Amino acid sequence: MAELTIAPPLARTQNPLPPPSTTRKLLVVDDEENIRTPLSAFLRSRGYEVHTADSGARALALLSEQKFMLMLCDIRMPGLSGVEVVPHAVRADADLAIVMLTAVNDAPTATEALSHGALDYLMKPIELSDLEAAVERALHKRSLAIEQRNIERMIREEVALRTTELEAEKQALRSLTVNVAETLINAMEAKDVYLRGHSQRVAELSASMAEELGLDADTVEHVRLAGRLHDVGKIGIREAILNKPGALTPEEFDHIKTHVRIGMEILSPLKHIGPALLFVQDHHEHHDGNGYPQGLKGEQISIGGRILVAADAFDALTSRRAYREPMSQEDTVTYMRRLAGTLMDPAVFKALENVVARRGSLVFIDEVYG
Ligand SMILES: [Fe+2]
Ligand SMILES: [Fe+2]
Repeated sequence: MAELTIAPPLARTQNPLPPPSTTRKLLVVDDEENIRTPLSAFLRSRGYEVHTADSGARALALLSEQKFMLMLCDIRMPGLSGVEVVPHAVRADADLAIVMLTAVNDAPTATEALSHGALDYLMKPIELSDLEAAVERALHKRSLAIEQRNIERMIREEVALRTTELEAEKQALRSLTVNVAETLINAMEAKDVYLRGHSQRVAELSASMAEELGLDADTVEHVRLAGRLHDVGKIGIREAILNKPGALTPEEFDHIKTHVRIGMEILSPLKHIGPALLFVQDHHEHHDGNGYPQGLKGEQISIGGRILVAADAFDALTSRRAYREPMSQEDTVTYMRRLAGTLMDPAVFKALENVVARRGSLVFIDEVYG
């Protein structure tokens, strides 16, 4: 609708035409045929594949059907104005380069179009050499933006991939180190028929007690792991003492006590097993402060340590020993009730009692061995 005309092309030495390519597809949008046609003809002569639209609505329809590299768009058109077309066009194709065609006195509107995503504007009358330079500049900006986005995407994907790989490696290392520790425990327990399966049973009972106490799922798993690993230090205890039937001398008991320290020496490099280490360290601490190695009291003892001491005692009493028959689970609970408040945290004993009552029909592994 503008009264503007196309300025004649400058005399110029003609560069050889770039090969026509469907990837160099442009859309010229102008309601005035006498602008649309010469612009299109010129751009075709420069090697572009040019499509035209005589309104904003027609332009948006074309953009929804096919991919263009660049749109030259008049601002003043009946119906949708060029400024109104821009945000729709950007939504349809974020890669589309947009150059506005504007009247001399309409710079504020052109600026508004830029703020919506247009890359540049040309004032009518249009010098064809300016047009070509503006198109090339906009296409260059477009390809830089696409390249930048591709690089950012590749970096994001690479970071995500490396994070996943690192997590998988960490997980593999975790299970490897835990497997090694479990192998040590199995080797140690295999030497003593009365110890066989002890760590596994303590682990399962402790985890059930942790659930009974309402601890979160992660803590329950740390307690289970600590149960599996709690006696790993017994690998350093003389077999004759470990398997000795009957009472130990004070010196022998002192030697047995060192299994906590030895266990921590074996496990402390495994930083990733986290709270389980602390639970192992506390598994012989007593509620009244008469345990070892630190003589901690009550809530000074980690919750995992408090659970393990109870589960450990329960398993020892219900297991066969060289010098005695195993106690029944019911008798063991009755016996241990007296130790709530001395050996054990009363709340932990309550959890043990509830778990054992629920598991009343469960057959323990060493009963099958028996
Ligand atoms: Fe122990
Ligand atoms: Fe134990």
